[in-house]
Amino acid sequence: MQLPTDIADRLRTLDQPSIVQAWHSLDDQGQQRLLQQMRSIEWSLVSECLSLSKPGDPVPQAASLSWLHQARSPQALLMGSSFNHVLPCDALRTGRHALSRGAIGAILLAGGQGTRLRAHGPKGCYPIGPVSKASLYEILCGKLLAVARRYGRDVPLAVMTSCATDDDTRQYFENHSFFGLNSHNVFFFCQQEVPVLHATDKQFMLETPDHIAMAPDGHGGMLTSLAHRGGLDWFVSKGVEQLVSFQVDNPLIEPLSAEFLGYHLLSKAEMTTQVVRKENPRERVGVIVERDRTFQIVEYSDLPHSIADERLSNGCLRFSCGSIAVHCFDISFMIRMSHNRSALPFHVVHKAVPLLLSNGTIQVPENPNALKFERFIFDLLPQAERVSVVEVDRNNCFAPLKNPLGSQSDGPEHVQRSMLAKARAMMESAGVHVDDGIPIEIDCAHILDVDDIPHFIAPGTRMTAPTVVGRSIPISITVSETFHKTQGN
Ligand code: UTP
Repeated sequence: MQLPTDIADRLRTLDQPSIVQAWHSLDDQGQQRLLQQMRSIEWSLVSECLSLSKPGDPVPQAASLSWLHQARSPQALLMGSSFNHVLPCDALRTGRHALSRGAIGAILLAGGQGTRLRAHGPKGCYPIGPVSKASLYEILCGKLLAVARRYGRDVPLAVMTSCATDDDTRQYFENHSFFGLNSHNVFFFCQQEVPVLHATDKQFMLETPDHIAMAPDGHGGMLTSLAHRGGLDWFVSKGVEQLVSFQVDNPLIEPLSAEFLGYHLLSKAEMTTQVVRKENPRERVGVIVERDRTFQIVEYSDLPHSIADERLSNGCLRFSCGSIAVHCFDISFMIRMSHNRSALPFHVVHKAVPLLLSNGTIQVPENPNALKFERFIFDLLPQAERVSVVEVDRNNCFAPLKNPLGSQSDGPEHVQRSMLAKARAMMESAGVHVDDGIPIEIDCAHILDVDDIPHFIAPGTRMTAPTVVGRSIPISITVSETFHKTQGN
């Protein structure tokens, strides 16, 4: 079959001769499949991406960062302390009120391919619970469930998937009865994809002989995909006024903390973001910087080491606010931005992508070999009229799962260690003693915070065996049942 002229013209304009060659080596069925895929590609996005990376460029162009010399770390509002006359108790009251009015919605970003983790299936299905083996999805949905129980209102949840994760994620939620959430309050939407380029010759890569390798368009793809698929209207119809977005790979996260929401509301911010103090200059988190009251996140891969390492005279890092990718948006800001086509530009990211060799075998490279094109949701920060930055405790809120078992950092064993340490600290605050070396996990669906622990384990108890706290029969129920039985007799 001849390559249809419109497609041939496109490929010529985009300087992609390798796909034309691949086409000629395919049989009829293969050509049909490749043609069908090429007909479904959003070519305007491809042109936009390719313009970022012209053939012959040695490396992806990082954004020009000379302006960083005039920038500084923003003054973050520390959780639990007062800031600009806002008291933590006022923030708590305001956040609780918003939750009990049903004014808060959640967006779970779960479209990433999770290549570094090298696990089978969506990252959200990874069994991370150190005792329970609960998956990331179960833990994160559990947190929403616990909030709904405490405040008497569901938190509508939109889950962003991609072609790589969509079917499996929907099925997983179905198979697990939506982890107890009301399925009418869960909205799935799939993000867009763009082709992946070989890093050296900037040609499309093939995933199979008749399929171009595609990758989701970054977590920033959330904005247009949510709007186009009706998600923003869905939230509005549910009475949601503020949206919190968070990533699928951090089970420690506290995205619906009433105090965090309260600070966001009381500061009348269009966007509020959570940060932790960076542990070391080279930590792989984006940093928040501020210049002339404009805020921006610079990805760790874009931040030159010389700037990342800079310290102030007091010894602190010059850019010390590490983003943990929990953002709260005023929904009217999101709606306004969804009409702004240039709100979120594409970035070029260097990643390792399996390569189809001419002998038909697949090579999984050790090092990045490909260019992906991604939008970053945090690029909305500079566009927000008012921004707040809230610093949270890393031990309570940050343990990302990025790498496979046995890695130096951000692997399952590191995440589980952090989960166990947080659970142990919570038990101690509730007056429960945990023997050394005994793994204790918190069931997030039943325990929202330390206040819930006495419903399950009485203060003064000593724990001597591995336990998922919250899965046992609540003491309060046992007590009240006994009470009713006694009354009945
Ligand atoms: P990462 O940037 O860590 O990417 O995503 P990843 O896909 O999970 O992992 P690698 O880089 O391939 O190893 C951070 C968060 O953003 C979401 C991910 O699902 C994760 O929650 N994300 C990322 C999307 O939803 N869509 C994307 O296109 C990219």
